Amino acid sequence: MSKVLIIGAGGVGRVVAHKCAQNPDVFSGITLASRTQSKCDAIAAEVKEKTGRDIATARVDADKVPELVALIRDIKPFMVINVALPYQDLTIMDACLETGVHYLDTANYEPPEEAKFEYKWQWAYRQRFGDAGLMALLGSGFDPGVTNVFCAHLQKHHFDTMDYVDILDCNGGDHGYKFATNFNPEINIREVTANGRYWENGDWVETQPLQYRKRFDFDQVGEKSIYLLYHEEMESLTKNLNGVKRMRFWMTFGDEYLKHLEVFRNIGLDSIEPIEFDGHKIVPIQFLKALLPDPATLGPRTVGKTNIGVICRGTKDGRPVSRYIYNICDHQACFRETNAQAVSYTTGVPAMIGAMMMIRGDWMRPGVWNMEEFDPDPFMAALDAHGLPWTCNPTDIDIDALPD
Ligand SMILES: NC(=O)c1ccc[n+]([C@@H]2O[C@H](COP(=O)([O-])OP(=O)(O)OC[C@H]3O[C@@H](n4cnc5c(N)ncnc54)[C@H](OP(=O)(O)O)[C@@H]3O)[C@@H](O)[C@H]2O)c1
Repeated sequence: MSKVLIIGAGGVGRVVAHKCAQNPDVFSGITLASRTQSKCDAIAAEVKEKTGRDIATARVDADKVPELVALIRDIKPFMVINVALPYQDLTIMDACLETGVHYLDTANYEPPEEAKFEYKWQWAYRQRFGDAGLMALLGSGFDPGVTNVFCAHLQKHHFDTMDYVDILDCNGGDHGYKFATNFNPEINIREVTANGRYWENGDWVETQPLQYRKRFDFDQVGEKSIYLLYHEEMESLTKNLNGVKRMRFWMTFGDEYLKHLEVFRNIGLDSIEPIEFDGHKIVPIQFLKALLPDPATLGPRTVGKTNIGVICRGTKDGRPVSRYIYNICDHQACFRETNAQAVSYTTGVPAMIGAMMMIRGDWMRPGVWNMEEFDPDPFMAALDAHGLPWTCNPTDIDIDALPD
């Protein structure tokens, strides 16, 4: 039984609050803090209505270490669950070190002034967390997060060498808007418009944004176009899995979404470089964010399913093996349970489970760790038990043989 401090009251924070409240045996006390306290209060009221539990709320600017330290000292949680933005990862880690509490997040640090995400800044905290006897669990969302655990499960139970790994992220949901992003628009657009990259024979191969496309038939969703992107879990997985010759990440995008994105690009609305407007400095992508629907409001109107998983071809006992492991999640079912759509749900549930692993001691080791560095079995069992059931089957799908 432990107290947790959740930071960030967006779509993901809402799901984490609901899921922690559903598990009082593990989470004895919950505080939800964010930049805008009214959002925390609204979530607390929903949680009370659905679960009968009271959660405390607070206001904090997580860019400011002294504010975080004061809040953590006041609450004295076992750990912080950081579901604010990647920009706050380091300040929250600093505050955890200063106050002696454990840390978990769902996305790796990204400097606000540069569209570049890497683990190097957070891995640099390994010694300090280790020396302090504290644990930091990085990337406990779905991808990164569950995809890492799926890989660890495949490695533990099905493969000696994981030669060819493809991660497939499909959102078959429809929110009825011409253009909206399912999570923070700034982070989302930066991710999609960046150059792609995949791992091959010990090195990264760079691609143009959305250069490679395939048509893939997703279980319970149907046929979609998937595009090759760089995604952060590949940085740790290529280091931690056995015998990876090639690893790629694919995500679905609809034609309408890509058409809008292309226009934003062409006129510079996706830029993070500040411009002068009417005597003020504005950042175009932040202005665009203000115009777009708030992802936290998409829940009631989103229908359809997500299907996210991993296909691996490799060997076991000298014989070729291939497996496809995935989860399917229904947007409306997620909304009925937590007032959030499936993209927030599939991130928030693993964040709660990661915290549960740490509190129960299933995963507890001082230092800074990625998800695949722990035993996948208790996490996989918890996915089944807490709303993200998975399927793992042999497969003969060859992505390279699929049509473009
Ligand atoms: N691993 C995965 O699978 C995965 C998938 C999706 C998202 N994510 C990550 O999950 C995190 C949350 O996503 P989301 O969709 O919930 O985003 P969101 O809806 O934009 O919510 C972010 C929340 O953080 C708060 N926040 C921002 N800056 C803050 C600061 N300086 N101090 C305190 N609070 C601050 C925001 O406050 P305001 O309400 O005041 O703006 C908002 O409540 C992001 O880091 C995202 O990258 C991970």
